[in-house]
Amino acid sequence: MSKYRPRRILPSEITPPEVFFDRRRLLAAALAGGASALLPAAEPSQAQPGQLRYTRNTRYSTSEPPNDYEDITNYNNFYEFGTEKSDPARNAGSLRTHPWTVTVSGEAEVTGQFALEDILKPHPLEERIYRLRCVEAWSMIIPWVGFPLADLLKRFKPTSKAKYVEFRTLHDPKQMPGQRFRVLDWPYVEGLRIDEAMHPLTFIAVGVYGRVLPNQNGAPLRLVVPWKYGFKSIKSIVSIRFTEKQPLNSWHVAQPDEYGFYANVNPNVDHPRWSQATERLIGRGFFAKRQPTLMFNGYAEEVAHLYSGMDLRRYF
Ligand code: MTE
Repeated sequence: MSKYRPRRILPSEITPPEVFFDRRRLLAAALAGGASALLPAAEPSQAQPGQLRYTRNTRYSTSEPPNDYEDITNYNNFYEFGTEKSDPARNAGSLRTHPWTVTVSGEAEVTGQFALEDILKPHPLEERIYRLRCVEAWSMIIPWVGFPLADLLKRFKPTSKAKYVEFRTLHDPKQMPGQRFRVLDWPYVEGLRIDEAMHPLTFIAVGVYGRVLPNQNGAPLRLVVPWKYGFKSIKSIVSIRFTEKQPLNSWHVAQPDEYGFYANVNPNVDHPRWSQATERLIGRGFFAKRQPTLMFNGYAEEVAHLYSGMDLRRYF
């Protein structure tokens, strides 16, 4: 298999995210009125589409070498595009990520519909290398580009009644052909307790390997919660709702005995049909030695206090 690894990108070559995400609007305006002055003067001539400007956050990053771009973008779970690992890369081209609107509702002072550009504009991007641990007992090391979810949520001024946050993926079977099959009760829904959502590790990803997220990885914006199983990391988000009651997440609704709300990575609590004690790192060969799974995916020091006094076998 060919291993494609994007070359290191020089800062001078990078299109700032606000330029990239705004480009369509600028081009439309320029075409409509000959408003060439609107085009960003400082846009680097060599920038390839989709390159992002970001800083590295080493504090929260694992030092393990990341998986190849090829693995990260061809071995996916995104049931809206099929249930095989190779389906999303093959089928996600039908998803249109521009224009994109996110609806914010529920227990917050600021609610409404927001264009993607307005969601992203105020947030400087950083790279964080996180281990994604799937509930299926495999993992990958992924260099995400994005920003802390807390910084976004605070802009909506959640009220004291906001105990949870619920996220929804786009529901449009025309763009997401897998939604024609009742594998799950669409749209895909996930949720976090508000303190989990506000934790500095909880991340909104808009890119991977320095480039805009490919559709199969959840473009244009997805959640990443590194101490939880991968199914919490909901893709292609169109709705954020602050709630008083615990949201019903899709996998819990589908199989309540197998998938809980919390979904914290825990080697001591097995899935009813397989062990969670070890995991297989993708890209190291099928017969490579399995690794022991770490409590909270290695982030116990940062997040264990969120669950003090809770029975993690019951709240799995
Ligand atoms: N989000 C949506 N909307 N639909 C999905 O099927 N799969 C989840 C999660 N987010 C899923 C989703 C699961 S099970 C995992 S392991 C991760 O996405 C996989 O993310 P990746 O494909 O970028 O590695």
